[in-house]
Amino acid sequence: MKLKIILLVLVVLMLIANIKAFSIHTGEAKKKAKDEVVIGLSLDTLKEARWQKDRDMFVAQAEKLGAKVLVQSANSDDTAQIKDIQSLITNGVKCLVIVPHDGAAMAKGVEMANKAGIPVISYDRLITGADITYYLSFDNIKVGEKQAQFLVDAIGGKGKIVRMYGAPTDNNAKMFKQGQDNVLQPLIDKGDIEVVHEDWATDWDPSNAKKIMNAALTKTKDFVGVLCSNDGTAGGAIQALKEAGLEGKVVVTGQDADEVACQRIVNGTQSMTVYKPISKLARKAAILAVKLAKHKPVSATGIINNGFKDVPTIYLPVITVTKDNMDKTVIKDKFHTKEAIYGK
Ligand code: BGC
Repeated sequence: MKLKIILLVLVVLMLIANIKAFSIHTGEAKKKAKDEVVIGLSLDTLKEARWQKDRDMFVAQAEKLGAKVLVQSANSDDTAQIKDIQSLITNGVKCLVIVPHDGAAMAKGVEMANKAGIPVISYDRLITGADITYYLSFDNIKVGEKQAQFLVDAIGGKGKIVRMYGAPTDNNAKMFKQGQDNVLQPLIDKGDIEVVHEDWATDWDPSNAKKIMNAALTKTKDFVGVLCSNDGTAGGAIQALKEAGLEGKVVVTGQDADEVACQRIVNGTQSMTVYKPISKLARKAAILAVKLAKHKPVSATGIINNGFKDVPTIYLPVITVTKDNMDKTVIKDKFHTKEAIYGK
């Protein structure tokens, strides 16, 4: 009898201990879920290789800081991107990081976030006419200046060129053009440089770039350079040049240091690219997003007026890449492996 009572007491004690451990456990889980910061990342597209790096590096850094990231990509469609933003807000994100397809159209998404009290970081591309919290990008004017300066130097300061701009809906495309104009306009005014054809590539689509290049080629084959604003459009232009027997015969610029573009550079069909260290941008943005989500103060190094207000900004420096410094830049930085660029 005595033994039975002792056993019963023991069982009851064990049960109590278990219940206690369970409630501590669920309490911790609840606290963790409450403390876990959820961040929304809304991308225009994952088409260009760079955006996949942006996504992966952003998510990795945010997770390192204990946050969870919900990612959406809109496939170059404004309606889809607004829906993505709506769903991220509904899912309780505490900070929204947006790469807008259309910088003006995405003001609507920002208004939705504002209503829900969620801070918005405009990532790489500026959202205009809306109350964004922060803008983080590369020095986009410098990108354009570097592209144009390279072209001018490569053609000896004079000659006929084709100009291919990016998506007219992307504020960056306008900034790249502005940088290019800074270098080219005085030479155009002097008559040293003549633009034989120019156009904007909708959605930065390489197939649209190819069409623009073909339109130029139907007009004339008398030009020495093609000023492309990124590697994707350079790829489209080079395809058209190839079909016209001009591949590797004219100077072609780019941007992003895409793996395929770096391969074209070492093969001689593309002349340069502008390398933007994505890891720095993505890491900074993730740190900032976690701080904003926790209502912590953040600092900025500059401002840009987006038509609504002066927005705190950070611009990161960019690097010109050619055949000559490929190893010392993208490969040294492990942006690409040597094998990927030069083959085995
Ligand atoms: C980015 C470029 C990119 C282009 C197309 C621009 O806003 O700054 O890096 O190539 O969009 O996605």
